[in-house]
Formats: sequence, structure tokens, C-alpha cells
Amino acid sequence: MSVSFAKLSFLVLALMFLVVDRPSSCLELIDDKFVYRNFQDHKRDTFLHNRFKKGFAWGVATSAYQIEGGWNEDGKGPSIWDTCSHQGGHVFMNHTGDVACDSYHKIAEDVAILKDLGVTYYRFSVSWSRLLPDGTLNHPVNKHGLAYYHKLIDALINANIEPVVTLFHFDLPQALQDIGGFENRQTVQHFLYFADFCFREFGQKVKYWVTINEPYVYVLFGHEYGLIAPNLKLPSQRSFNIAHNLILAHARAWKRYHERYGQEQQGLVGMAFSTIWAEPMTQKAADLEAANLFMQMTVGWFARPHYHSDYPDEMKEYIEKHTDIKLPEFSPQEKEQILTRSCDFYGLNHYMTVMVKERGNEMPGQMFDPETVRSEIDRNWIVKEGYYTIVPWGIRKALNWIHKHFHGPAIIVTENGMPHVGYDVNLEDQDRVEYMTAYINEVMKAQLLDGVDVRGYFAWSLMDNFEWTHGYMMRFGLHYVNFTDPARPRMARASAKAYTEIIQDNGFPSKVREDL
Ligand code: BGC
Repeated sequence: MSVSFAKLSFLVLALMFLVVDRPSSCLELIDDKFVYRNFQDHKRDTFLHNRFKKGFAWGVATSAYQIEGGWNEDGKGPSIWDTCSHQGGHVFMNHTGDVACDSYHKIAEDVAILKDLGVTYYRFSVSWSRLLPDGTLNHPVNKHGLAYYHKLIDALINANIEPVVTLFHFDLPQALQDIGGFENRQTVQHFLYFADFCFREFGQKVKYWVTINEPYVYVLFGHEYGLIAPNLKLPSQRSFNIAHNLILAHARAWKRYHERYGQEQQGLVGMAFSTIWAEPMTQKAADLEAANLFMQMTVGWFARPHYHSDYPDEMKEYIEKHTDIKLPEFSPQEKEQILTRSCDFYGLNHYMTVMVKERGNEMPGQMFDPETVRSEIDRNWIVKEGYYTIVPWGIRKALNWIHKHFHGPAIIVTENGMPHVGYDVNLEDQDRVEYMTAYINEVMKAQLLDGVDVRGYFAWSLMDNFEWTHGYMMRFGLHYVNFTDPARPRMARASAKAYTEIIQDNGFPSKVREDL
């Protein structure tokens, strides 16, 4: 039986064409109420004036392939994204990350704009194949790559900016893909060596580690739908095996850190999970169940093993009942020895809310589509570029869901942001200012009103960059980057200035309510 499971790829493809963008300036603050077009829940949407708790981490995020360039410089080995973009046919206008924002040569410029922003955290990723050209320690480490990251980290620390380092953000060394990528357990082992190497090399200076970025997207979009590197279209069963190995890869790295380095280095090791919020269409039990199933099969799939040592029961039942997939199992030793509480913080990447209901007899939905669930984007919502919904309360609900299901863990919003499409300079991104204001306000409500242990917010992204299959056409930057100018100048948008103010205020303090 062929399996119709988690077809989120359609969400990207189909909705790109189906959903027409609506005007963006529908999100405003009037009389202390968010007036989001079509959101009329005043209690839920009333703006909160207050400050985040002391010590809240303010940051921005990027990733290596999206900004560095220098794709074959100084001994860097190729990654699957070099292969994908050079092959042609996968990326808008065949753009590549060969130069990108040229951050490989622009440490000073990048740190300068970070300083101007006023952030105290910067999440970036190291390129595995820049450090270990074939992904392994069987060959010499690339000294130039090592020097680059040391220099970047030192420059950040000198600027009082805490580095938050992602070890693997989609750009697997091509040499490891050649042996089967994460489908091959040897890659898990090489990831462990790589992680160990980074902890040893940089751990005196780096206190926050994200092992793997969005395994859900990497597995499904890269291995089943063929949309992103390594552009494979494997049967679902193999996706589940790869996912399983990624979960173990994180857990092993986490354990290694705490066994060998944690005591001395006193850092935290987490993972960044793509976290869509699934809002039940109605309060009917069947819809509540469908929404829960959606969350379990997207978020729970990758996160639950690190908090409860196994896959979600709902997911296991669903897969057994509706598919011919054999969900891999964790051995008792794996459960006990490496999975238990193997995440020091939940990294929440959030870009989207969907409405979910029980499918009943309807035609299959366009998106996440197990047999019993139908999800869709409410046609009244603002949707940016066909995929990124503007539903600020969705992030608060997602935060609460994580809090409830995973023992109230420490959470860092490791990515949140919204795109524009086009090459125009457009520095007046008022819609992004409104977006950030609203989303950050909802994060603050989760912290102050709901008691969620959310410790930081990192905006995606510091600057426009290589947006995977959309190339340079899709822009998330708080800074505009001119990609036709060899100097790749960065220019602050209005959203950068607005973010700086929010950071300086540690929230939205005017008219702080004493009663909170
Ligand atoms: C990824 C980023 C990406 C962002 C915006 C996340 O899925 O981690 O690399 O640029 O979404 O699409």
C-alpha cells in the first residue's frame, strides 16, 4: 500500500500557486489591540505591555551555506548543497551559494551589523566540510576553516555577543552522502566525531550548541520529496530510517558533550525543530484529535524521543494502522542510556500555523495528509509567499504545546521571521516590523502569562541570504544585501531598527502593568 503521510511538500508546492498573497499591512496595533485582519479575539490578541524576564536572550540566526560563500576556497570540501546548486534545475534561476553574502571574507562587517543591532546572541552554523573536507577525521582537518571559525567566534566574544553554534544545517559533506548520508550508520558515527571535534576545539568559547537543524525538513524535503539537497525521492520507509538515525546522532552528540566536556565547559546542547502550529478547526473531539496527531507526527516525531525516550504513541498507532511502514525501534539501552532527557533546550523554529480537522469523507487535503487528518491554511489569513502564514498567536500556542508535552523544557525560539520576494532595495519593511512586534509580543505572553520557560528569541535572519530552492529571490533579512554588487553591502531595514528598540526595552514596557 502506498503511504500518504506528511505530504508537507505539497504545502510548499501547491500553496505557492494556490494561495494568492494578500496585502501585508493588515497587522496593526490600535488602542492596544492587535488588529489583525480577520482576528477578532480581543482577549487573545490584546497587546501586552511588559518586559521579558531578566536575562532573556536576544539574537539573530543564519546558516553556513546560506551566507558564507567561499564554496571551494582554502581546502573546503563540497557539500550536498554545492552539488545540488551546481547541478542546475533545483534552485530558482540556478542560483548557487558560491559567494552568497561572502561572509567567509566579511567577519568584520557581519559583527559590525550584529553590534549595531544590539543582539547579545548570534546563531550561525559551521560548515562541516569546511572543517573536515570529506566529513571525517580520516584526513587532516582544514586549518583554514578552523581559523575562520575561531576568528569569527573571537570577534563575536570581543563584541559581547554569545555564539550559538549549529553543527549541521542541511549541508552534509558530499563525501558522506556518497556513502548513503544519514541512512548509513557510519554517518552517525562521523557526526559524533565531528561534534566531538567542535566541542573540543571551540567549547571553551561556545556555550550553546544546536546539533541538527530541522531534521523534519531535511528528511522529508530532502529525501522523500526531492525538493532540497540531496534531492532524493526515496520511499517513506527509508525516510523513517534516516530520521531514526538523526535522532540517535543528536542523542549521541549530546551524551558525548556531557560525558567529556560539560563539566568543564558548562554549555548546553539542544536541537532546532521545525514547529508548525496545528490549530483545531473546531473544538469537536475528532478535530482536537486530528490536530494533536498533526503535532505528534511533525514535532513529536523528532522531539519526543529526547524528552520521553520514544516516539509518540499516537504516531506509532497511526503508522501501524494506516501504513505498511515499520517504524524503527529504539533498543532498551538506547532508551535508557542515550535518549533520556537528551536535549538541554528545545530550539523552536516557527514559520507557520495551519487549521486542522478530521478528514471524514472529504477529498485528501493538499498538505499534511495522513488518512484521517486534513490541514489547510485559513483563506482569511495573510500568507506571505504562499507558505509563511501571519498568525501571531500560533507561536504562543506552539510554545504552550511544547511546554505541556515535554516536561516544561527550556525553550529558545531559534528561528522566526517572514520573507519578501524580489530584488528591490525596499528598506521600509513595515510589514516585517509589525510581524516581529506581534510575534515577540506573543512569545512574551507565553513567558509571562502562561509560565512557559522560553529563554530567548532569535530572528531569522540577520541579512538576506541564499534561501534554498528560492535562491536570492526570497529575502528574510533584517538587513538588505545587494547580491549584484561584488562587495555584497548590507543595509539595515526598518525592521532592524525596530528590533534594536525591542531589545533595548527587553520587550514592550510602556504602560507596564504592575499587576502581572
Ligand atoms: C531553515 C532556514 C530557512 C528558513 C526560512 C528554516 O526552515 O532552518 O535555513 O532559511 O526556514 O525558510
